[in-house]
Amino acid sequence: MPLLTLADSGETLDALDGETVLDAARRAGVYFSHSCLAGNCGACKCELVDGDVNELEHSEFALTDEEHATGLILACRTQVWGDTTVKRLPEGEIVMHPSRVLPCRVERLEWLTHDIRSVHLRHDGRGEFFFSAGQYVSLEFIPGLERQYSMASIPGEGLLEFHVRKVPGGRASTHVAEQLAVGDQVTLRGPMGTSYLRDYHEGPVLLMAGGSGLAPIQSILRLLLDRGHRAPVRLYFGVRAERDVYNATLLDQLAASHPQFSYDIVLSDPADGTRRGGFLHEAVATDLATVTGLKAYLAGPPPMVEAATTLLRSRGLGLRDIHADAFYDQPGSA
Ligand SMILES: Cc1cc2nc3c(=O)[nH]c(=O)nc-3n(C[C@H](O)[C@H](O)[C@H](O)COP(=O)(O)OP(=O)(O)OC[C@H]3O[C@@H](n4cnc5c(N)ncnc54)[C@H](O)[C@@H]3O)c2cc1C
Ligand code: FES
Repeated sequence: MPLLTLADSGETLDALDGETVLDAARRAGVYFSHSCLAGNCGACKCELVDGDVNELEHSEFALTDEEHATGLILACRTQVWGDTTVKRLPEGEIVMHPSRVLPCRVERLEWLTHDIRSVHLRHDGRGEFFFSAGQYVSLEFIPGLERQYSMASIPGEGLLEFHVRKVPGGRASTHVAEQLAVGDQVTLRGPMGTSYLRDYHEGPVLLMAGGSGLAPIQSILRLLLDRGHRAPVRLYFGVRAERDVYNATLLDQLAASHPQFSYDIVLSDPADGTRRGGFLHEAVATDLATVTGLKAYLAGPPPMVEAATTLLRSRGLGLRDIHADAFYDQPGSA
C-alpha cells in the first residue's frame, strides 16, 4: 500500500494502489481543496514533491502546461502507485473567477506614447466583472478580430483599462490605433491567466515590465500598495527610448506616497544620459542582491520575459515564484 505524505502538514496517509491523491485524502478525512473532481476546474492543484504517479487527462484550463512544468499536478487526476509526497498550495495560490462573455463600450481613448493607446471599457453586463490583478482577457473588436490584452486597472474600478501597443502590420493593434472610437462595442471574454498577484505573499516583490507589459504590472503594483504591502516592492520598466516611457507621473506619485516602493526606467537605446541604459534583465542582474523570500511578476515581449526568467532562475529563484506573461502572438489568430 503506497504512503501519501502531505509535505505542508507532515501528515502521512495510506493510499490504495491507483487511487488518486484527492480520493486518498478525502477517504482519510483530510482537507484538500477541490470542486469538480474531474480535472476541469483546477481547485485541487498541488505540488508534486516526488513519487510514483500516473497523471490522467485534464483540461488545459484546470492546469496549463506552464504550470505543469513548474511541478504542479491535479490531485483529482493523479493516481498514486508508490510512495508519494505532495504539497498543498497556500491559500490564495489558486484563484478562479467565472469566465464571462461581456458586451463592452469604449468610454475613453488616450495616447500614452507615440504607439501605445489606452482603451477604457465599460461593460454592459450584469454585476461586477471579477478578475485578479495581472490577468488578461480576450477582446473582440470586430467579428473575428480578437486578441488578448491585460487589465491595467485594478479589480473593482468602474472602467477596465488596457494599454495597446501598435504592432507594425498588426491587425488588431492597428484597428485600436486607427479606427477604434469612443462608443464602439467590444466583446470581452475572460478573465484568463495565472500570472496574478498572490495575496498571501508578504515578502519582497520584484516587478519587471517591458513596453505595454506595464499594464498588468501596474495593476499588480497599485493593488499591492493599496493593500498596504510592507516589504520592498521594486519595479523595473524597460522601453526602447525616452519617447516610449509612459505613466512615469503615476509611478512618481506611488513612490512618493509609499516609501517601500521604488522604480527604475531602463532604456535599451538611450540617446542621452538622463536615464539608465541597457537591457532590463541586465539592470536587475546588477542590482539584485538576493532572491530570498522574493516573488517576481514579469510581463512584456517574449525575449524580455525569457531573459528575465533565465536570470532569476540562475540566481536560485524557483519557477513557482516567477509569474510571467509573455505577450506571444497566438498562432492562427485571425
Ligand atoms: C497573455 C497575453 C497578454 C497580452 N497583453 C497585451 C497588452 O496588455 N498590451 C499589448 O499591447 N499587447 C498585449 N498582448 C499582445 C496582443 O495580444 C497582440 O498579439 C498584439 O496586439 C498584436 O496583435 P495584432 O493583431 O496587432 O498583430 P497580428 O496581426 O496578430 O500580427 C502581425 C505581426 O506582428 C507580429 N506580432 C504580434 N504580436 C506582436 C507583439 N506583441 N510584438 C511584436 N510583434 C508582434 C506577428 O508575429 C506578426 O508578424 C498580449 C498577448 C498575450 C498572449
Ligand atoms: S477538483 Fe476540479 S480539477 Fe481537480
